[in-house]
Amino acid sequence: MENLIYLDNGATSYPKPDEVYRFMDSFYRSFGVNPGRSGYDLCMETGALVDTTRKMLADFFNGSDPNRLCFSYNSTDALNLIIFGTLQTGDHAITTTLEHNSVLRPLYHQNRFNGVEIDYVPFNRHGFIEPEEIKRRIKANTRLVIVNHASNVIGTVQPVAAIGRICREHEIPFAIDASQSAGKVPIDMEQMHIDMVAFTGHKSLLGPTGIGGLYVREGIEIRHTRAGGTGVRSADRMHLEEYPYRLEYGTGNIVGIAGMHAGLKWILEKGMDQIHHHEMALTRMLRDGLREIDGVLLYGQDDLTDHIAVLSFNIDGMEALNTGTLLDGEYDIACRTGLHCAPLLHEQLGTGQIGGTVRVGIGPFNTEEHIKTAIRAVAEIADFQKKK
Ligand SMILES: Cc1ncc(COP(=O)(O)O)c(C=O)c1O
Repeated sequence: MENLIYLDNGATSYPKPDEVYRFMDSFYRSFGVNPGRSGYDLCMETGALVDTTRKMLADFFNGSDPNRLCFSYNSTDALNLIIFGTLQTGDHAITTTLEHNSVLRPLYHQNRFNGVEIDYVPFNRHGFIEPEEIKRRIKANTRLVIVNHASNVIGTVQPVAAIGRICREHEIPFAIDASQSAGKVPIDMEQMHIDMVAFTGHKSLLGPTGIGGLYVREGIEIRHTRAGGTGVRSADRMHLEEYPYRLEYGTGNIVGIAGMHAGLKWILEKGMDQIHHHEMALTRMLRDGLREIDGVLLYGQDDLTDHIAVLSFNIDGMEALNTGTLLDGEYDIACRTGLHCAPLLHEQLGTGQIGGTVRVGIGPFNTEEHIKTAIRAVAEIADFQKKK
């Protein structure tokens, strides 16, 4: 455990900055009551952290109204709110083959149970969606375009500003899945013409699991798909219309909000650019090292300009799972293998039949030494495989 080289930051960031652990502990001990439900001081102070975090995140995405920043349990939860709250029978939606199951499955359900028609735009050979391909598929009944901002398998960052411009021109709501990108690359909802952004706390925002959220731009309304307690106007029969209550149900994850607050604060203090720069230098080093190894196949890594620190590879003739098992068992290197919940991407890459890919997710606490060890380990495994 002590020697573990953790390269699975695409699944969740680990470790978190010390500040996150410390703040969660102290906040939950000192405050941690149910905010917005009562008027005593402790309740108000707990609520103040929730409000401050709303404002921090709204600013972070350049959203103008903090109340339109709603907390959810993760990005899957936020994406479900978006997909079930915007689409109904007779509608058409456009998405991509890069998507995670947290977009695909709600869409499949909308298709199967409500007859919503879906188009899937393939990525080009470099791993990018071409905005014109989205435009070409727009129809009179298109009611949502939803795109994975940064791929959790090949790491490419999509041209969301250009896609957003097309959607705005056609007055179609545009949502992004920022699970991998929020905290790594800038997201400016105004400049990029993004109407809804879904994010999760436990990945690049360096917070804990069980917390996430969405920002919904003014003029876009998400229908209620749930109802419950809000702590205010309890006599109303219907769930409240106004944000953030509109998309928040029941007691929130207060300690999770505290952790996400501390994670974002840490990122802002260090500088998101600096962190990204560090991670991309390591990604480049890994990519270059792996490229030199006979029998290593890399996916979508030719140009790392619009990229996050996520990289996928395979060793020729080996199932991804076997490579991952050797990396873990023999070298104490943790990375993820399989389809990474993105089945259409593997269908397109042709990696479905060999058990997907080995994915390396680099985080702020990884070092050059980690990467050198990983390159050496892959070289040894590839060499062994070749001699078999
Ligand atoms: C691109 C993408 N979307 C959605 C998710 C789902 O995130 P969560 O499990 O936090 O809801 C992930 C996590 O793996 C992801 O990488």
